[in-house]
Amino acid sequence: MWMRRWACPLALLVPLVTAVAAATAAAQAPLRVASPDGRNEVTVQVRDGRLYYSLQRDGRAILLPSLLGFAFRGAAPLRDSLQVTDTARQTVDETWTQPWGEVARVRDHHNELRVSVAETAPAPLGRRFTVVFRVFNDGVGFRYEVPAQPGLGEFEISDELTEFALADDARAWWIPSNRPRLDRSEMLYSSSPVSVIDSVQTPLTMETRDGRTFIVIHEANLVDYARMFLAGARMQDRTLRAALAPYADGTKVHGRTPFVTPWRTIQLADRATDLAPSVLGLNLNPPSVLQNTSWIKPMKYVGIWWGMHIGTMTWSSGPKHGATTANAKRYIDFAAANGLGGVLVEGWNVGWDGDWIQNRNAFSFTQAYADYDLAEVARYARAKGVKLIVHNETSGGIENYERQMDSAFALYHSLGLDAIKSGYVTDLTSAGDSHYGQVMARHYRRVIETAAKYGIMLDVHEPMHDTGERRTYPNMMSREGARGQEYNAWSSEGGNPPEHETILFFTRLLDGPMDFTPGIFDILIARGTGRPRRPDEPRVRTTLAKQLALYVVLYSPLQMAADLPENYEHQPAFQFIRDVAVDWDTTRVLAGKIGDYVIVARRERNGPSWFLGAITDEEARSFDIPLSFLTPGRAYVAEIYADGPGANWLTNPLPVTISRRRVTAGSRLHVALAPGGGQAVRIRPAR
Ligand code: NOJ
Ligand code: CA
Repeated sequence: MWMRRWACPLALLVPLVTAVAAATAAAQAPLRVASPDGRNEVTVQVRDGRLYYSLQRDGRAILLPSLLGFAFRGAAPLRDSLQVTDTARQTVDETWTQPWGEVARVRDHHNELRVSVAETAPAPLGRRFTVVFRVFNDGVGFRYEVPAQPGLGEFEISDELTEFALADDARAWWIPSNRPRLDRSEMLYSSSPVSVIDSVQTPLTMETRDGRTFIVIHEANLVDYARMFLAGARMQDRTLRAALAPYADGTKVHGRTPFVTPWRTIQLADRATDLAPSVLGLNLNPPSVLQNTSWIKPMKYVGIWWGMHIGTMTWSSGPKHGATTANAKRYIDFAAANGLGGVLVEGWNVGWDGDWIQNRNAFSFTQAYADYDLAEVARYARAKGVKLIVHNETSGGIENYERQMDSAFALYHSLGLDAIKSGYVTDLTSAGDSHYGQVMARHYRRVIETAAKYGIMLDVHEPMHDTGERRTYPNMMSREGARGQEYNAWSSEGGNPPEHETILFFTRLLDGPMDFTPGIFDILIARGTGRPRRPDEPRVRTTLAKQLALYVVLYSPLQMAADLPENYEHQPAFQFIRDVAVDWDTTRVLAGKIGDYVIVARRERNGPSWFLGAITDEEARSFDIPLSFLTPGRAYVAEIYADGPGANWLTNPLPVTISRRRVTAGSRLHVALAPGGGQAVRIRPAR
């Protein structure tokens, strides 16, 4: 009996001990790995038995020695008496193609260093793990890999001990993570030195005080783990610590070895404009597991949606019910007539009556209200060549959703429906776990996999933050996960301030596409509600031209024309929404300052046309933009949608001047933006 119990550990112990002995002499020497261009360098070192990494760029410290390790419930922390037992290195340089995206081709070029460590005490069974670093020209990713081992089988992580010890009290643009209610990401951003931050969501964007480096901390490939927030030691130091979203009992992650964590990522750039499009997280996700992705198609869509937010329609049944068969057909006709690919219908299914946020278990995902004939609407949409986007609000009732998911998705599939917008308006799971904890990470992954099985594309609201899932599952297309247009309809703060989208571009949008739902033309929300709103009431706090520019600036493969169809009728500016592409070959950020302005140019996928979007905060600005990104020697026509005379988000938001001009790669474009304004340009080959 004793033989059996000890046979396995002893056999393991022998090679381990030899490896430790061999490594001891070298263990004192720091291990280093640099990016292919040599500018970013990670150093790994054991000091007093603890494992630290640090990060330099051009020889300047970005992260000072920062701790690695875990604390467990019911077991000693995996942090002390560590010794390096093994290292391995490799270089990867490959380029892969996205089925859709902000750019078609992505280069994954990095140097990898694997550092394996083991506890030298308690003897004889030192627990062990490996930290894998991948260093790219645009940043660093690292993760823990914990192999199966006798001393570490099942575990409960009470804390991940990872630190990010910032060398500089960088300026951060951030949203907190410790709000007691509505534990979501739908907040306005603050800007402050990082040292005053208590708790923060990622991606966390920072600029060093000397303005030389932009740093974004985030994570990639979150599969079966809790979402990472960052906790600061307010006013004490500049060290941010991983703070995982908890279960109700305070534990963070339940698992068993072998086990890998998500990647912790630190994106680096010299200029804010070099941060986007961000591909670091995509490169750290596994390639697509879907054999056939031809059914996954970016599109623009309209929806029975804004009416509910401005109060002219209801999700629930009754005289103002939005999701009627007749209404849905009207939207489908509108989409078909204007070349928009999809129609979203919210409030079609039983469960909205009463307090739908509390009644999370009341939702049926198959049974329609009596005035909505799902099969007939699906048939009508198919006949018109329009995709019907099915809405699945769960109110966070994930058990209720998972119970119905297979049969609901099978029904949608049988009706030819291949897109879902889901929603998770909630604070906590029914068991009281964090909305962002391991339970929800598992749920979201299950939904993505089930949707893939039934050939369904996803647009998730109140989602887990994006950690690059779309590379592995390209049906995971867009999400909300930030404060979108809906706040302009009802927020007690009066809507989103004019600077909001100029911050979103450099923060939330760095983790992935956002279903912001741009394109409100009835800026003062007068129509249907009877009277224009005052500036202190909820209203859209942009000019109309800026609404157009958002189609280019805020990337989403599912891009909504969010206003009521009647608000687009007889509006010449609507032509831009009809024309703008939703899938891109190339993206160039031409100018930008976080919180002030952004100018982006993108070339459509499989076509020669470029689109340019420029937005500003509450200040008027003008720019002179060289069009050198155009193909030399080719003649183009620029169709320009600019803020009109006297335009101002506050006093005069509607004027748009539409003009046409012949341009070439040698031309310059004058971009004048009104306060809270924007400009949208289509640059197509001259005929
Ligand atoms: C919040 C979503 O963001 C919004 O788009 C949706 O209309 C409501 N929830 C209802 O599901
Ligand atoms: Ca929302």
